[in-house]
Amino acid sequence: MLNIAVFVSGRGSNLKAIIDSPLLKDSIDIKAVFSDKNDCPAFVIAKENSINSFSVGDKNKDVSNHEITDRLVALNTDLIVLAGYLKLIPAEMIKRFRSKIINIHPALLPSFGGKGMYGMNVHNAVYNSSAQVSGATVHFVDETYDTGKIIAQRCVDISNLKTPEEIASTVLEVEHELLPYVVEKFVRDKIKISGNRVNIIP
Ligand code: GRF
Repeated sequence: MLNIAVFVSGRGSNLKAIIDSPLLKDSIDIKAVFSDKNDCPAFVIAKENSINSFSVGDKNKDVSNHEITDRLVALNTDLIVLAGYLKLIPAEMIKRFRSKIINIHPALLPSFGGKGMYGMNVHNAVYNSSAQVSGATVHFVDETYDTGKIIAQRCVDISNLKTPEEIASTVLEVEHELLPYVVEKFVRDKIKISGNRVNIIP
């Protein structure tokens, strides 16, 4: 059983994809959902599934990076999943959980990533670039936005899609498959880092 913490900022559809995935049934325990928001739709999903949620970004009383890290350690967290989390992960947390934090990004990194590239900003940029494919990327998290080693990607053909919104919804479907797939590989210890590359072993 892998102990997981999920970090979210909004809707929580990727959180739900993890919760509902048949691949992960009986093999993960989602210990907590963390958000930089005081309240967000993903908290409702957590509550419906009896998962504790913590707001770590209350402007009036910011929870320190140290406290977040301590809480993750106390929960015996094996894997941290960023599922639509918008804040930069503090260096202290990355140091403590090196190669144990993953993020889902709604485009094919290393293109269309970096600070400010989230949500519709990504899909608008893809649309305006005239790219014919987009997709989803799951990668390790390092100290900067979207630059960690890539674990897995899925492409989608967007050549016939008419709007950024259509790209977003098509990519989201792929995200909901890719993220549980990668988490399951973690559960089975099938993800191996070799220099600059990451291999998923059969
Ligand atoms: C997803 O597109 C994810 O790739 C991105 O933010 C979005 C979050 O969606 N990082 P949701 O909150 O999981 O529905």
